Amino acid sequence: MKKNYSAWQINYQDFHKQLSLTEQIYFLIRFAVLAPSGHNSQPWKFSVKKTTVFLKPEIQRAIPMSDPAQRQMFISLGCALENFLIAADYYNLKNKIEYIDDKTYGIMTKIVIEKSKSTKDEKEHLIFSIPKRRTNRNKYLERLPEKEFINKITNLSNNDARIELINKKDIKDSLAQIAIEAQIEAMEDKNFRKELSEYLKSNITDSKLGMPAVGFGIPTLISFFAPTLIKYINVNKLSRKKDETLLKKYTPFLGIISTAKDNKESWIKAGRLYEQIALEAEKQNLSTAPLAAAIQTKNFHKDIQKLIQSNFRPQLIFRLGYSEKIAGHTPRLTAEEITEI
Ligand SMILES: Cc1cc2nc3c(=O)[nH]c(=O)nc-3n(C[C@H](O)[C@H](O)[C@H](O)COP(=O)(O)O)c2cc1C
Repeated sequence: MKKNYSAWQINYQDFHKQLSLTEQIYFLIRFAVLAPSGHNSQPWKFSVKKTTVFLKPEIQRAIPMSDPAQRQMFISLGCALENFLIAADYYNLKNKIEYIDDKTYGIMTKIVIEKSKSTKDEKEHLIFSIPKRRTNRNKYLERLPEKEFINKITNLSNNDARIELINKKDIKDSLAQIAIEAQIEAMEDKNFRKELSEYLKSNITDSKLGMPAVGFGIPTLISFFAPTLIKYINVNKLSRKKDETLLKKYTPFLGIISTAKDNKESWIKAGRLYEQIALEAEKQNLSTAPLAAAIQTKNFHKDIQKLIQSNFRPQLIFRLGYSEKIAGHTPRLTAEEITEI
């Protein structure tokens, strides 16, 4: 295994080799770094003070051209937070979370960890989905997920955040169309393309950040040229037909996470929800893939609100379905590299 993928190898038993609660907390961060993030920018950093953990955005790894409001950054932080908390739960560590306004970071998440005595149904725990989850941009099958799964996911909705899983053809096709138009629009901006090209990597990259082109179905030889190609050409204009087929024919469900408020705290909460859904899906061997353009670009989010007749603010759209082809993992910085000592 290449070094930049080593973060995916976690031995669950190693937790018990950690001598202090603080060391155990460091161990939990190994699960947090496996979260998804916009462009695989991994915009998170942790600091641990005894039994208190702070999760902060890493501004150096922001992607300002595609994420000027930092929405994706905080959604990604929410995904990392959820992984951390799921791991804490598995190892019977209780937690108390606080979202704190902060001058430097906008918002910081403070997590206080405590030992607890309760036990868990270990084999079924969501922690086991964390190292298996990956964004899968391949075709999905027509086969539908079980009703029970759909209900479970829909029931994660609450007063702050809502989840819609759409498979009614006319609405799904309209949503797909909005997503595609938004992608093309986003790619019209040359600064957006330049930033994306820096995160698109060859299939044999040693980088710990960014997305190997294989994740977009690009073979190794072409993967060396893909970043340059994307920098100068709006490739989404060329792949419009293919993308339409992917989202309309080969995507049985499109999901929308939306929130009552539209601030950093609600973005973190939307991220937590997405990660929960992605992990629940993984447990059922279902694939997921987020689509950010319609949320981020111009006023496309208003078209979505109109379509689903909701005044909640859409924060993330994602594909959901079974797939025969499973994508590989993307590289990661290790827990040590994103933790302040
Ligand atoms: C907030 C957010 C937005 C994303 N937007 C897109 C997107 O628009 N298109 C896409 O192909 N992938 C998108 N992704 C998926 C990331 O590219 C992916 O999570 C990252 O490359 C890491 O790979 P992994 O999810 O397989 O671990 C998004 C992920 C997050 C968390």
